Order: sequence, then structure tokens, then C-alpha cells
Amino acid sequence: MPLPDITKTFNPYFHLTHEHLGRIVSQFRTEFEDGLTHYGKDTAMVPSFVTGVPDGSEKGTFLALDLGGTNLRVCEVTLQGGHKFDIKQQKYKVSDELKKGAARVLFDYIAESVDAFLTDIGSGIANEHEPMHLGFTFSFPVEQTAIDAGKVLTWTKGFAATGAIGNDVVKLLQDSLDRKHIHVKCSALVNDTVGTLLSRSYQSGPALIGAIFGTGTNGAYIDRTRTIQKLGEEKIAGAEALGDHAGKFMVVNTEWGAMDNGRKVLPISIFDNKLDRESINPRKQAFEKLVSGMYLGEISRNILLHLIDSSLLFNGHSTTVLNTHYGYDAAFVSGIEGAESTDAARKIIIQELGIAKEHVSDGCVELVQWACRVVADRACALAACAIVAVILHTGNDKVPEGEKDTGVDVGLDGSVCEFLPHFDDRVRKTLKVLLGEEGEKRVRMGLAKDGSGVGAALCALQAKKAIEASRVKGAKAAPGKSPTTGQTGSHPTSHPAPPK
Ligand code: GLC
Repeated sequence: MPLPDITKTFNPYFHLTHEHLGRIVSQFRTEFEDGLTHYGKDTAMVPSFVTGVPDGSEKGTFLALDLGGTNLRVCEVTLQGGHKFDIKQQKYKVSDELKKGAARVLFDYIAESVDAFLTDIGSGIANEHEPMHLGFTFSFPVEQTAIDAGKVLTWTKGFAATGAIGNDVVKLLQDSLDRKHIHVKCSALVNDTVGTLLSRSYQSGPALIGAIFGTGTNGAYIDRTRTIQKLGEEKIAGAEALGDHAGKFMVVNTEWGAMDNGRKVLPISIFDNKLDRESINPRKQAFEKLVSGMYLGEISRNILLHLIDSSLLFNGHSTTVLNTHYGYDAAFVSGIEGAESTDAARKIIIQELGIAKEHVSDGCVELVQWACRVVADRACALAACAIVAVILHTGNDKVPEGEKDTGVDVGLDGSVCEFLPHFDDRVRKTLKVLLGEEGEKRVRMGLAKDGSGVGAALCALQAKKAIEASRVKGAKAAPGKSPTTGQTGSHPTSHPAPPK
């Protein structure tokens, strides 16, 4: 059955031409460069103070906290060496009240969850003399000033707790842990993308990019420290003086979810505008709102409502689910996309949306499938643009003459890349458009599951080593300087896939 003409009107917002994709990549590159030069930009390009990637031989047991996805996760991660790890974890629900209440209450809840985890699940490795080291994966924009310090810049993904913006997130957590006499030291602050990059490197060799396509979207990559000009000459030279590799490279958390907040190139349709103005952060996270799991269901809901109101779908009938803000989520889109027959898709529509059977004709099923498909296709095409922008920015689209081609490795995590049918193939389709067939083949992408947990543990390990090293050095440690910054030179060991 042909789709109604109205669908054609919306195609330019969802089927992006080669030229349009190119403009999006250029905008990314401009914003990357801007963010590396100046503080306070939307695409914040946050220096992580992680100056290398692990080589898979690291060992030890650490706590990891992960805040920023759907749930709060507390984990005990045992790095076993030989690229292997073991993880015990527990999820704790973060209610809307906690997300939007006072930050102190939220952080007290996090500390209580750590306590509950240690009592119920942890293996009791904490001892009274030595606090247990914890890596905190805090997946929001933070202006990081050391591996264990950073101020919250803004909330994303439905969080809006008061009293956090401008404050040091490690201190907020440590104060709550101390108030409750929990013998844990938060020694590393990590973004989930940085964690994913480290975890991928630990598990399967040096990666260039760690990307999250989950509730939110963001990417981290390895750049030359010298390129992060906003750090200032003193810090850059200090880092570079540390030897061959340590300090010459640094993992940068791009915060690409905020790319093109100025709306110069992104294909923003009426459905996206409605989503944005009804969101708790209008005019923010423009890229994220077209790509990430938190929003894919909602964009498709807006499309379906428009079709219903145009009397083209379900005989003009709606339901409570369809009429409710965030009435369903990206799992619906994935379900429809994965349905193997019209009848299977119809069943999902009836069950999930609550539409009466007699209003769901074959034509309606096709229309719902179209809506889900275009939303998902666009998300995957845009995901590819972000990856390509990093590859071009770092010069990794070419192999320098005389060097062996090791390709480009990308670690991925998040519900969209895990559950959206054919995510990988769809992203590759756009990689091919932008990098050519040969270029696309050089890109390896793979899930780095548990990136947040393992990455945080790896950072906590480095922080612990640095603290021990500075203890040995005793008074030699520079006063006032965090012993756990990359500047100690004791950061992850192996050489990353370097920017060319
Ligand atoms: C949001 C956050 C970012 C995080 C991403 C994925 O974009 O701002 O810090 O990495 O979500 O969780």
C-alpha cells in the first residue's frame, strides 16, 4: 500500500542527503575545535586528565558507581588481567523526585546505595585501615580539573537536582559518604564515554573512540594534549614533559550531545521542535534529542499524533498512552523495527499503545512502521556523522605513509546500539557515504559492555597507584596538587591509537 503523501513532506528531515551529512560533519569539526580552544562552549570538549589507555594487564578490585543512565548502578569490579574482568552489580532506582529534588538528598541516596551494596553484595574486601577506592562514572557535563575533581556544568537526560551546578561532584559524593561513615574514597571521576573507551581498550586493544548511544549520546576520543589549547601552555608543557607517551595524549570527553544547539545544520522537524519545547531543557542537547534512547520514542509519538490529528491513522483515534508525554519509550521503536511480519507489528501496536484492533488496518501498521523507521534511520545516520567527525578531526581517515594500517577502533555502549535492530549496519551505511567503501572498512566497532563499571575501576586503579606513589615520595608531592591527575605520569600505560 502506498504511504500517504504527507510522509513525503517530512522526508527531508529524516532522509539526509550526502551534502547535508557533510555539512553536519563540518559543523561537528568546527565545534570540536572551538571547544578545545575556549571554555564555556556547548560542545564542551572536556579534558578528562586520563592520559593513556590500559593494556589489559591491570589487576585489582574496585568499586564503581554509575549515575546517568536509567538507573543508579553500584558495582564491584575485579580486573583479572589478561583482558578479563568480573563484575558484581546492583541497580537502584532513581525516582523523578530524586532527579529533580535537592542534590544533597540525591547524593545521600547514592551513598546509602553504596552502603546497601557493601552490606548485601560486596565481597567484604574493604578493611578498616584502607578505604575502598571508588571510581564514579558521572555521565553529565562536568568541567573536570583533575582525575578526581570536576564541577557540574549542567544537567541532561531528565535530571534537574538543585544545588549541584557549579559544585564539585566528587566533593558532593564524598561528603555524603563521610556523613554516613562509609569507608570509601571516591578517587576518580569518569564520564561514561571515557569509561567505554578505557574498557574497550582493556578488553580488545587500543581504541580511538568510546561512544554512548543510550539514554543520552556522547563520545570521548584521544587527542594530542597540545591540541587542547584551553588548558594553557603551562599545563600542556607540564604534561608533555612526562616522557614518551604519558602526557602527550589525553582523552577528551566531547559532550557531542550539545552539538549544534545553535540549530545551524541539524534536521529539526516540527516533531523535534515539539519535543524540545516540552522538555525540561529547551534549546539544549540538540543533537542528543535526535539520536538518543530517551527521545526516540517521543519523536515517534509526536509523528503518530500528527498523523492521527490529520485523520490518517487509527481512524483518528488516540489513547492514553499516545496522549501522555513520554507515554512510551524507545523499546517500542525497537519492537516495531524488529517485528517480522505485519501481524507481529500490529500486535505490538495494540498491546503497547492500547489502540482497539478494529482501528489498526494494514495501512496503519505500515504507517507506524514508517514513523519508527525514519526516526531510527536518522538517529543512526547522525551517530555515524559524530564518529566520522572524530576520525577526520584526529586525521585517522588516512594512514601516514610507511606506517602499518591498524584501522580505527570504536567502543560502543548503550541501549540504542544494543537493542535498535541493525544499528551497526545502519551506521555503517552512512560511514560508507562519508568515508567511502575503503574508509568504512577501516572502522571497527564493537560493544564495550559494562564500560561504565570497568572504565571507572580502571581509573580508580590508576588513582590508587598515584596516591601510593605520592605516599612513597612523601613530602616530595607538590602541595595542593592532586596526586591523581595525569600529571603524575602514572596514568594508563599503553599507547593509544594516536591522532595522526
Ligand atoms: C549526556 C551527558 C553525557 C553522557 C551522555 C551519555 O549527553 O551529558 O555526559 O556521556 O549523556 O550517557
